[in-house]
Amino acid sequence: MGIIDPADEVQLPRVHEGMDAVCFSCGHCEAFCPSGALTFTDMGSKAHESVISKGAISPENLGLFLKSRRSIRTYKPIEVPHATIESILDIVRYAPSGGNSQLVEWLVIHDPRVVREIAEQTIDWEREVAKSSLPMASMASAMVAAWDKGNDVICRGAPHIILALMDEDKVMSMGDVIMGDPIIALTYFEIAAQAFGIGTCWAGVLLIASQNRSSILEYLNLPEGRRIVNAMLFGYPQYAPQFIPRRNPPHVTWR
Ligand SMILES: Cc1cc2nc3c(=O)[nH]c(=O)nc-3n(C[C@H](O)[C@H](O)[C@H](O)COP(=O)(O)O)c2cc1C
Repeated sequence: MGIIDPADEVQLPRVHEGMDAVCFSCGHCEAFCPSGALTFTDMGSKAHESVISKGAISPENLGLFLKSRRSIRTYKPIEVPHATIESILDIVRYAPSGGNSQLVEWLVIHDPRVVREIAEQTIDWEREVAKSSLPMASMASAMVAAWDKGNDVICRGAPHIILALMDEDKVMSMGDVIMGDPIIALTYFEIAAQAFGIGTCWAGVLLIASQNRSSILEYLNLPEGRRIVNAMLFGYPQYAPQFIPRRNPPHVTWR
């Protein structure tokens, strides 16, 4: 935001009159100052964490870690402890957000029975879609058929769901700049979860159902003024991938 004028031979860095009003608390002033001259007092007095040392994670290792992530569709019937979920979310809060707004909130469905109930309500909605003339009807029929054979194609038997929520009014006031924030935050979630041995799967079907069937929202009893903006299943994976599946080469246009 150009709030701080840099130092020169004769003067210290300074903030122009009134410019503090446009500060969005990104903390870069303190993070990048080589001599630690600035302390951003609005964020409390907790000591800073040091940044990771250069080269601590090689590009090869990071690449392998990211490429090894898979959508997990079979889970062990074991619950992830609250403390582990909190540790993951402690990392996730560092995900970038439009204007450093940090507006993504979380609803963790920890009780596997509630997860199952949500899957059942979603499949009820799929049954209606299957009978409709909507473009999703044939996909919905296939899902219903699989469900009726005992295959949980909605929540994949995951013990937990994490729902990204946002405050409706704040979303309206920030506009498009924050629309990607929940996706970025959940992407952080799935990457961080992997480091704790936890598998994840985006819950696209559940997300669409929750946005179209009011009974699911009533059942979830969201905090006041919040709406679901994305959803992810998680738990301990039953199986581990042995290889990294092949993917298309990147489609890049250079100028
Ligand atoms: C936005 C989004 C929604 C998704 N929704 C579902 C879903 O509802 N059910 C499911 O089993 N997988 C879902 N997936 C997982 C994709 O199918 C998966 O990412 C893709 O097949 C690639 O596999 P990988 O994640 O193991 O690399 C979703 C993925 C994304 C990004």
